[in-house]
Amino acid sequence: MPAEAMGTADWYRHFGAFDAPGSSACYADWSLHIADDPELIARIEQWPHNKRQPLLMLAAARFLGARISPYGEFRKFLDEHWADISRTVLSRATQTNEVGRCATLLPSLAAIAAAEGKPLALIEVGASAGLALFPDRYCYEFDDGTTVTRLLPARPRKGQPAAPEPPALRCITSGMVPLPGRLPDIVWRAGIDLNPLDVGNDDDVAWLEALVWPEQDFRRERLRRAVAVARQEPPLLVAGDLNEQLVSLARQAPDDAALVVFHSAVMGYLSAEGRARFRTTVQGLAADRGCHWLSNEGEMVIAQEDGSNVVPEMDPERLKGRFLLLQDGLPVAVTGPHGQSLEWL
Ligand SMILES: C[S@@+](CC[C@H](N)C(=O)[O-])C[C@H]1O[C@@H](n2cnc3c(N)ncnc32)[C@H](O)[C@@H]1O
Repeated sequence: MPAEAMGTADWYRHFGAFDAPGSSACYADWSLHIADDPELIARIEQWPHNKRQPLLMLAAARFLGARISPYGEFRKFLDEHWADISRTVLSRATQTNEVGRCATLLPSLAAIAAAEGKPLALIEVGASAGLALFPDRYCYEFDDGTTVTRLLPARPRKGQPAAPEPPALRCITSGMVPLPGRLPDIVWRAGIDLNPLDVGNDDDVAWLEALVWPEQDFRRERLRRAVAVARQEPPLLVAGDLNEQLVSLARQAPDDAALVVFHSAVMGYLSAEGRARFRTTVQGLAADRGCHWLSNEGEMVIAQEDGSNVVPEMDPERLKGRFLLLQDGLPVAVTGPHGQSLEWL
């Protein structure tokens, strides 16, 4: 059942029973208790429907300092901080910026740069803080032993600060993944988001950290490292709807670079109409100015408006809890939602 059709208690029960257990024992436990706590559910129901989602409420509590603990302690924390939790829930949104996804985009980006014989210009729609706009600055460790990273000078030039240690993005591969030998050159990067987060703003960064599941310290660590990289050269982020902003932003991209428009974990926020409009906009951009399109999204990318299917031969079980990576509309890989795996088709 879609979340919009569930009652609040069922939403928390479903999150605690199905969404959280593989990633966070603590969130699973808290959510199941909240589902059976009518007084708390009544308080949550005072918020607008889209603000009642479990991850948002739990991240707000973490943002304000809730630690991994038994439910009794967490419930006390909620009581003591409820006004601040409400304020945080009402002013923030789930905007997890998962830099690990760059590992699953890298082979396609490198292949596009090689095929075009040009450096890349990137536009990420639904960019959050824009951390995925720096795929040329991170270190990639694929499970076949391939490591791809930027060669930095052994010593920084005089007067220049040392480059921050990049996050190591580890990825398990299967199939004939075209792993690149080097990182693509990226000469321009920009993003669009309804509410861009600012890597230079400590509150925004603390919010991004709070969105990481409590037990996943390795994700928080790589987030911190990616933020340090992005802080050196904060990306151009345009505030607004991706359907309204894409064409005008693309005009700013240099003509002598190959433009790639990409997105991960964004299409679920759009209506079917918004997704169809976006598809038409990208196809128009490709025809008018030339661009490539990488879409890394969950199951909703499969079913098309006309009832057809992008990958009719694929067993839906194979996609459960994973993303499909499409390059220029064609499926190329099934990917781990946080970039942890890449299965080439
Ligand atoms: C789950 S986050 C994913 C962020 C990033 N793509 C990543 O993979 O780390 C989804 C982002 O899409 C943005 N978003 C949702 N709908 C949007 C729209 N119509 N136009 C622009 N951004 C949108 C949200 O504000 C949020 O920052």
